[in-house]
Amino acid sequence: MKHQDLISQMTLEGKCHLLSGRDFWQTQSVKRLGVESMTLSDGPHGVRRQAEGGDQLGLGGSLPATCFPTAATMANSWDPQLGEQLGELLGEEAASQDVCVLLGPGLNIKRNPFCGRNFEYFSEDPYLAGKMAAGYIRGIQKNGVAACPKHFAANNTELRRMASNSVMDERTLREIYLTNFEIAVKEGHAKAIMSSYNMVNGVYANENAHLLQRILRDTWGFDGFVVSDWGACNDFTDGVRAGSHLEMPSTGGDSPRQLMQAVYEGRISEDKVNTRVDELLDVMLSTRAAVNPLKGKPFDVEAHHAFAQKASEQSIVLLKNEENILPLAPGSKVAVIGEFARKARYQGAGSSVVNCTKLEHTMDVIKNFDLNVVGFEPAYPRHGKTDPALIDKAMELARKADYVLMYLGLDEISESEGLDRSTLAIPSCQIEALKAVCGANPNVIVVMSAGSAVEMPWLNCCKALVHGYLCGQAGASAVLKVLLGEVNPSGKLSESYPVKYEDCSSSPYFPAKQRTVEYREGLFVGYRYYETAHVPVTFPFGFGLSYTTFAYSSLSVTPQSATFTITNTGDRDGAEVAELYVHAKNPSVYRPVKELKGFAKVFLKAGESKTVTIPLDDKAFRYWNSVTEQFEIDGGDYDILIGASVADIRLSGTVTVEGTDAPKCEDFDTIPSYRKGEIKAVSDEEFAALLGHPIPDGKWAGVIEPNDAIAQLYYAKSLKARFVWKVMDGMLKKSIEKGEPDLNITFIYNMPIRAIGKMAGGMVSQSMCDGILDIINGHGIAFLKGLVKIIAGFIRQQGVAKKQRALE
Ligand code: BGC
Repeated sequence: MKHQDLISQMTLEGKCHLLSGRDFWQTQSVKRLGVESMTLSDGPHGVRRQAEGGDQLGLGGSLPATCFPTAATMANSWDPQLGEQLGELLGEEAASQDVCVLLGPGLNIKRNPFCGRNFEYFSEDPYLAGKMAAGYIRGIQKNGVAACPKHFAANNTELRRMASNSVMDERTLREIYLTNFEIAVKEGHAKAIMSSYNMVNGVYANENAHLLQRILRDTWGFDGFVVSDWGACNDFTDGVRAGSHLEMPSTGGDSPRQLMQAVYEGRISEDKVNTRVDELLDVMLSTRAAVNPLKGKPFDVEAHHAFAQKASEQSIVLLKNEENILPLAPGSKVAVIGEFARKARYQGAGSSVVNCTKLEHTMDVIKNFDLNVVGFEPAYPRHGKTDPALIDKAMELARKADYVLMYLGLDEISESEGLDRSTLAIPSCQIEALKAVCGANPNVIVVMSAGSAVEMPWLNCCKALVHGYLCGQAGASAVLKVLLGEVNPSGKLSESYPVKYEDCSSSPYFPAKQRTVEYREGLFVGYRYYETAHVPVTFPFGFGLSYTTFAYSSLSVTPQSATFTITNTGDRDGAEVAELYVHAKNPSVYRPVKELKGFAKVFLKAGESKTVTIPLDDKAFRYWNSVTEQFEIDGGDYDILIGASVADIRLSGTVTVEGTDAPKCEDFDTIPSYRKGEIKAVSDEEFAALLGHPIPDGKWAGVIEPNDAIAQLYYAKSLKARFVWKVMDGMLKKSIEKGEPDLNITFIYNMPIRAIGKMAGGMVSQSMCDGILDIINGHGIAFLKGLVKIIAGFIRQQGVAKKQRALE
């Protein structure tokens, strides 16, 4: 142990307390030994350092910080180095605000476009997500702040996120939902990682030794600490035993008391506690030493704003450019239409919300650009129904201009933590406005703001489509620079855009009806499905246009790398993202027809050619073998495909790869749908064959259990409990109607009963939660017993909390 000297001077009580938070954002300290507490803070695209007096969930005001583009936006840059630079600025702002651990980046796979948090995640592809995340982590940690990639693992839905069980076969887990984290941990050397709320194959992520010990520590060599997502600690002792180091937020001493009891009863050894304390102390001491000299040091607000703009410029995706309507000539006569041009849509809602240092709105900054603006009309309400009067005015304005810049997208409520989407459509009031405006002026250029895929049945109405995603605080100018050609767009989509939601591979299985989220689509996520099953999409993964053109030539391939030439054949300088996909010709396991295994972003002056080499790393040919329980390689031929998108392969070559001679692990006859990629109606038998065991019964028993969410009180026997549900449901519906996401409500709605104890800052103990359950489920005597438990728990908890304060 590295910190034996310190640990030997700590009492068991002190050690148990160190593994659980002091309050909402801080760890405990051991002042007598010189161990200072650490502050943890969101977030993934800007620091959200909670100011004094924030609300219990910590979602009140936070200190001003730069709001960079969100992860979903940055992934479109396909530029991990840009991510690293962004991370460096995040680390600088974190240290300046005395934050030792920055809770990000978020890198869960965008399994389904309905997931309300997709805007916080990089991609549907684990390779791209992992590489981007590794860049962020390297950047954040440059000055000694710890990055904390999240949410580990298989956390791909918001509905009942704190109580759901992600069920999938080990191969899908390893190849899709863990490869991103593997790259982030190994190549980014993260000093912390956040365990997710959900269970993975029946075990809560925070107490899942398979994930935390066997894979994370033993296989990937992670040597940092694991922190639970806020309230994600189900059983504290099981968590510590499995490899979790820090429970957040504080439970007012309730969890440490449980851990001590477990040590006394021999359910966990003190050695195990010591090991966790040692691993945690290591990061506490090093980050504190790094942050102390930097705290309070002001950061350069203007320079960071300028970088936020640059990052956004590099990530904007040009999706359509009919008749080369873009870029606009200087002085072009434009009408600006759309509410989002007046008040920007630039980040999503929830724990990642940043209180910007400054914020650009298109109508405020457009005067800085060489455009003849004839006026602005909102055309649609930010949230709500079509307003014919607004549309009439917009049409009138459109007629006065040569071009219309029409700002559209998802509104605030559509992209929020704690709330999945229910449609891929943009609001109908916007579509109606667009159709009317197109009738008034055919030269409509749509500027889209949305952090995740949307359906575009209206695409033929506009001549051009510029997708800014969620561009951060400086996005408005970045978009205008692209429109005018001051920046040549070079972003490419990091996710597929289906024609309609029902086309998505996981649509039949999302959201989960009961507690079990079944990943029946297996490896067929996003383009892996569309390409294999030949399902047409609106825009494929990896697609993006430029104001110039690129030619690909002269490919040579070896099992170690692919080398080729790219030439800028147009008359403008620009950057091209070249993508490398691998296709296994005779696999022994089922495989998607194309899988991203490398990419390069290359800047070329007009007319210039460059030779590009993309290495083929250890992930290029591997597959997870469930017999040997490790990654193996099939010997044989593989096509190496170089594309401008997954659907636009420009060059191909074949390599013969030496295999690892592993035993066959899949019987194609038992999983025929997977062989063909036809996975929209996988039967129970076939899914069980893929899992290698019977499908776990996720049905809800009817009696509310500690891990059932408040949302499920609807089914409770007790009238009082159903009343609580009604109140919560009413509040949720109201906030949705208003279009204003309220995370306090969405959080509580999806929260299991046991988490009340975890989130109440020590006011509610686990035994009080048991009492609440008795009341919910029972009548008569059970009701009274529940009441007694709550009162007794309350009295005891006062004592525990007092003791905890004394320990500090
Ligand atoms: C979110 C995390 C976040 C944490 C602290 C949780 O609800 O899932 O991403 O870091 O809250 O705000």
